[in-house]
Amino acid sequence: MGDIDPSFIQSTEHRPNLSTFIQVDEIPIIDFSESKQENLISKIGKACEEWGFFQVINHGVPSEVSTKVEIEAKKFFDQSLEEKKKVKRDEANAMGYHDAEHTKNIRDWKEVFDYLVENTTQVPSSHEPHDLELRTLTNQWPQYPPHFRETMQEYAREVEKLAYKLLELISLSLGLTGDKYHDCFKNQLSMVRLNHYPPCPSPDLALGVGRHKDSSALTVLAQDDIGGLQVKRKSVGDWIPVKPTPGAFIINVGDIVQVWSNDKYESVEHRVVVNTEKERFSIPFFFFPGHHVMVKPAEELVNEQNPAKYKPYNVGKFYANRNRSDFNKREVENIQIHHFKILD
Ligand code: OGA
Ligand code: NI
Repeated sequence: MGDIDPSFIQSTEHRPNLSTFIQVDEIPIIDFSESKQENLISKIGKACEEWGFFQVINHGVPSEVSTKVEIEAKKFFDQSLEEKKKVKRDEANAMGYHDAEHTKNIRDWKEVFDYLVENTTQVPSSHEPHDLELRTLTNQWPQYPPHFRETMQEYAREVEKLAYKLLELISLSLGLTGDKYHDCFKNQLSMVRLNHYPPCPSPDLALGVGRHKDSSALTVLAQDDIGGLQVKRKSVGDWIPVKPTPGAFIINVGDIVQVWSNDKYESVEHRVVVNTEKERFSIPFFFFPGHHVMVKPAEELVNEQNPAKYKPYNVGKFYANRNRSDFNKREVENIQIHHFKILD
């Protein structure tokens, strides 16, 4: 066992069990070339309810676009730390390169590059409810590799189309109109993250990403063939690995769909296990509404028997709260959707 910095070490209960992988059930794979829309809707609804996770194939994102992104991402991360830090994320700029991400105050064994789908996006300047000032988030682009920016932007546009399609199908599966949430994504805060997980000398002590839920509406994730993503199975609470499927995207329900659906679809915990030998790449697209949106359970789904389980919350203020610099490394929990739960 190699030595790693103590900031990476998970407490005993959160360490992965690397020896006993009994693969019983699998995350559903849904084929988008399915001719009958009703079948697609019912499969997606079932997967969202039972797992909160599924994979899609024949999704329409051209494989050349995905391949190019993987090549450019690898070229970017292969550079020296000094080069990568030229586009590093800091207090003023939330986008760019970062190698010290923490999940629940434990450092993740990875480095990332983040960019917004809209090149500039507005968010509230502060988490204070009465402060109406906005600030602009802007992307930072590296000089090298030379076609990085175009490649990343082309990828984002392609995955965005898939995200809108999924949003429509998920809305229909809830009995809502297909375009119910379409306009919420004007001035979207959607973001793409390039994740690089280097080999780790102590994969039994550290995690690539600690257990968490995504605060997006939904996430569209591309992963390479190494594997490592695990999903907490809702029924049993054990960790199920998501087997890499060539060309597939992994879709998961985020916190916002959980609230919109009034808990019918839950945002499920997941984490990433690393290994001693192989580096791994993954690329999540976090589909986020614009800052002005108030998130609350769909009116069509609530009534006297099934009252709203959440108070409305503002996307921008939630974002500003998550990004409070005074939260870094503090022994307090980040803002979470359960803070808006109406207790009965
Ligand atoms: C994330 C995430 C999974 C992966 O970045 O939120 O869950 O497989 N990533 O990298
Ligand atoms: Ni995640």
